[in-house]
Amino acid sequence: MTREEPGPISQRLLTEQDLDFEANDRPSPVPPPSARAGEAPGAEVIAETRALYKVLHAGATPTTILHHIDVTIRRGEFVALTGASGSGKSTLLYLLGALDRQTSGEVWLDGTEMGALDDDDRAAFRNERLGFVFQFHFLLPEFSVIENVAIPMMRRGIRRGEAEDRAYQTLGLLGLEALWKRKPGQLSGGQQQRVSIARAVANDPAIVLADEPTGNLDSHNAALVFDVFAHLAREQGRTIVMVTHDTEFAQRTDRHVKLRDGRVIEDVVQPRR
Ligand SMILES: Nc1ncnc2c1ncn2[C@@H]1O[C@H](COP(=O)(O)OP(=O)(O)O)[C@@H](O)[C@H]1O
Ligand SMILES: [Mg+2]
Repeated sequence: MTREEPGPISQRLLTEQDLDFEANDRPSPVPPPSARAGEAPGAEVIAETRALYKVLHAGATPTTILHHIDVTIRRGEFVALTGASGSGKSTLLYLLGALDRQTSGEVWLDGTEMGALDDDDRAAFRNERLGFVFQFHFLLPEFSVIENVAIPMMRRGIRRGEAEDRAYQTLGLLGLEALWKRKPGQLSGGQQQRVSIARAVANDPAIVLADEPTGNLDSHNAALVFDVFAHLAREQGRTIVMVTHDTEFAQRTDRHVKLRDGRVIEDVVQPRR
């Protein structure tokens, strides 16, 4: 895949401020050629929680929002996390994404226990090893699609040309290469969310974590976005943990973990169809 014009980023200078955005502040390495697909059940454990608790000390009495969570995720697995609003899905996802610190228990990600890291090391781990997709895409409106995907890589020190090449390649994997020059405002909601998925995977993260990525979309676009995750899991062997309200989507993943009141009430491995 080659672009027909030089990358748009090189036509202007980015300021530090341009690069300093928080919401999707993760980084990025290389698109994954790999043939890891289908590795799930016997495969290596890539993420695991052990006797994980999260207790909030907001008011007079502490509130336990996660109770003794033991979840094991293997390389290449596509995991759905469901449960009623307030059941603790986001809290668990954020702990699995090193965005939050546990009260007790362990969170192992790719061989490292997150509770043992200080905030800086946890942020560095997150930026180098994890990819995030949120309900809202947090694309930078003044930048093009390819810039939005390339900028997190540039923030990690990857030079512009290489970051753009990887960005373009990743957009191609998701069928979005024709949109590379557009601004987010010229895209549909579903396209914007697919660009944010490209941004999350362009750095070849060990795990992709998504919190209700279809929650803001109509059913047609939700299905398109779900299909992107399914493609990443099936064809590229990506490890994906996705919070969703949609039980039909959840049933089409490799593993369905259900939460209720901060506890895992079901954890079912589902055969690929
Ligand atoms: N920062 C916070 N302060 C107070 N309560 C919180 C906070 N974060 C989460 N909670 C509470 O913890 C519970 C789980 O929240 P959350 O993980 O966001 O659930 P879900 O994503 O399943 O809707 C809810 O009862 C919520 O109100
Ligand atoms: Mg939530």
